Amino acid sequence: MSTWPDSLPPFLWGAATSSHQIEGDAQNDWTRWEDAGHVARLERSGRSTGHFANPDPDLDLFSSLGWNAYRLSIEWSRIEPKPGQFSGQAMAEYRHIIEKMRENGLEPLVTLHHFTLPQWFADQGGFFGPRSASHFLSYTAYVVDHLKDLVTLWVTVNEPIIYAVMGYSFGTWPPGETHLAKAWRLTNRLVRLHQKAYRLIKRIDPKAMVGLAHHVVYFAPYQPQSPADRMLCRIIDYLFNWRFIHKVDAYQDFLGINYYTRQWISASRGLAPIAAKPGAKVTEMGWEIYPQGLHHVLGRLKSYRKPILITENGIATNIDEERQQYLITHLAAIAAVQQEGVEVRGYFHWAALDNFEWAEGFKPRFGLVEVNYDTLERTPRKSADLYRTIIELNKENSGREPIIVPSTFQ
Ligand code: FCB
Repeated sequence: MSTWPDSLPPFLWGAATSSHQIEGDAQNDWTRWEDAGHVARLERSGRSTGHFANPDPDLDLFSSLGWNAYRLSIEWSRIEPKPGQFSGQAMAEYRHIIEKMRENGLEPLVTLHHFTLPQWFADQGGFFGPRSASHFLSYTAYVVDHLKDLVTLWVTVNEPIIYAVMGYSFGTWPPGETHLAKAWRLTNRLVRLHQKAYRLIKRIDPKAMVGLAHHVVYFAPYQPQSPADRMLCRIIDYLFNWRFIHKVDAYQDFLGINYYTRQWISASRGLAPIAAKPGAKVTEMGWEIYPQGLHHVLGRLKSYRKPILITENGIATNIDEERQQYLITHLAAIAAVQQEGVEVRGYFHWAALDNFEWAEGFKPRFGLVEVNYDTLERTPRKSADLYRTIIELNKENSGREPIIVPSTFQ
């Protein structure tokens, strides 16, 4: 039985961003990380796309591209620049963005934590800090209270496992630590934090739909005939892909899935996956393009019997035909799994517009809309036109039948 409320569009068609990636500089740990020279080519997010200073034209543009939804995140460091001191002005700015979305027929999906922390919170040890959960919950309560009349769909935490691994095990993101055991402990803390945030949001607004955006990789054994590769693959698959979702099962109204790629597991390499086999078709991030993986992953989620939102899926490329192909093949994977009875209720392409790709800086181009970083001019790519055509094809979709996806894109 579907729990998808009638008040929401039957299928959400949109794209996603996160605050720091499109807004740039703030008093957060990432700005400090950039200042310390940890980003490729020593880039800094700076003003990024200029979106925060002038959001209205972007929101008009997004709705003119045919979307009925848009995923964004709130920058905690703007809302709570000092512990316990909330900025009414920053809150009003985000409220304005969401009111403008509503005027434009864009259903908001709002993320509360998308990788960045206020500097004061990071200085107290981030999510290991003594009062970290209560700080996050009071920020959550403040935001939800101020937006509950406009927002139904909430994501508490974006990609908890990626966040933990990159910041605490690989050390390529702040705080730059390299202790696998700490990354593990952090994921357990984030499980509890999500559970608490879920309960809190539902208390403030019982009709809210709350979930998280979980990164799922399609893992496969490098040598399928090797028992060691197969065994390790199963272990990594469980720990990385399913354990978190499993633990928060009772605290999710929908399953938010970020899917990008397949990776290979080889016992000879240990825990570090191999991004692609030689000769594979990869994106500018070096990620293999493998739409069948999305089909597999979504199939595994059927048993949860919850509506699924693809909260991110996209490609870094300067060749827009590749983006068009990526879009079509991944949407086709969604249609195929819907045929098998999996309830997918929305698709958010990553990204709405080009943006600051964390430690990779501005080089990877993920946007349906191109950004000229010198002039801040926006140019929708052909893939945005293709997406609009597909959305148009599906305007009668009741959410109960598979989406229609054309097989060619010329
Ligand atoms: C995801 C992140 C998102 C973006 C894409 C490319 O892991 O959630 O912010 O960087 O990757």
